Amino acid sequence: MTLPRLVALTGAGVSAASGVPTFRSAEGGLWRRHRPEELATPSAFARDPALVWEFYDWRRQLIAGCRPNPAHLTLAEMDALLPHFTLITQNVDGLHHQAGSRRVLCLHGDIWWLKCSRCHYREENHTVPLRPLPPLCPCCEAYLRPDVVWFGEALSPSVLSRATEACAEADILLVIGTSALVYPAAQLPFYTLQHRGRVYEFNTEPTPLSGHVTESILGPCEETLPAWWCDFQNEYGLA
Ligand code: APR
Repeated sequence: MTLPRLVALTGAGVSAASGVPTFRSAEGGLWRRHRPEELATPSAFARDPALVWEFYDWRRQLIAGCRPNPAHLTLAEMDALLPHFTLITQNVDGLHHQAGSRRVLCLHGDIWWLKCSRCHYREENHTVPLRPLPPLCPCCEAYLRPDVVWFGEALSPSVLSRATEACAEADILLVIGTSALVYPAAQLPFYTLQHRGRVYEFNTEPTPLSGHVTESILGPCEETLPAWWCDFQNEYGLA
C-alpha cells in the first residue's frame, strides 16, 4: 500500500503536557498582568525593550526546564519513518527539535534564536537567564530581539509558501493543539480540504475548525496522537 503524504500542524496545546503554558488559557496567558498580545509586538519593543526582554527571558527560563512529551515524540517518529512528511509548528519553544524532528517549518520563529533589530546579525543562543537585558548586537550594538514573529509582523514568505504547498499536497493533515484562531496558520487546513485531503483535529475542546474537519478527536493529544499513530502504522504495515 502506498504511504500517504502526511503533514502535521501544531500549536501550543502540543506542549501543554510538557509544562509550557498555552497562550489563551486563563492560568498561562498572563505574565505580571500583561497579556502576550501587549508584549509581543514591535511597538511594545520600541517603547520598552527591557520589559519585552524580561517577558522573553522568563519564557526561555520556563521552557528550558521542559521536556518533549509523547505527542512530540510521536511526531519525531513520523518524521523518521515516513518519506513524505512535513511538520509545521506555530510554537517557538524548540521542543519538536529536542524530540528529534528534523523537517520542521517554524511559522512563528524560534525563541532560541536572536536577531538584530537593525542589521542582519542572527545567532542561536540557549543561555538562561540571558544577561545583560536587553542584549546588544556584536556587529552594530543595536538591541538584539527574539527571532519570533510578533503580532502585526509578517511571517517569512518562504516558510509560509512551503507550509501552504505541503498542506495543499497533503493526503492527511493532523491539526494538533491549536485554537485555530490565528491567521495565516488557521487557513492552512482549508488548503488540504480544498484538495480533498483528510484533516484530523486533536484538541481537548472543539475549535472554529472542528465543524470543517474529517474527524475531530477530543482529548489530550499526548494520548490521542500516539493512539492514532499506532492505528496508522497497523493499517499501513509499519508496525
Ligand atoms: N492536547 C490537545 N490540545 C490541547 C491540550 C492538550 N493536552 N492542551 C490545550 N490544548 C488546546 C486548547 O484547547 C487550545 O485550543 O490547545 C490550544 C491552544 O491554543 P492557543 O493557546 O491559542 O495556542 P495556539 O493555537 O498555538 O496560538 C497560535 O497565537 O499567540 C499566538 O503566536 C502565538 O503561535 C501562537 C498563536
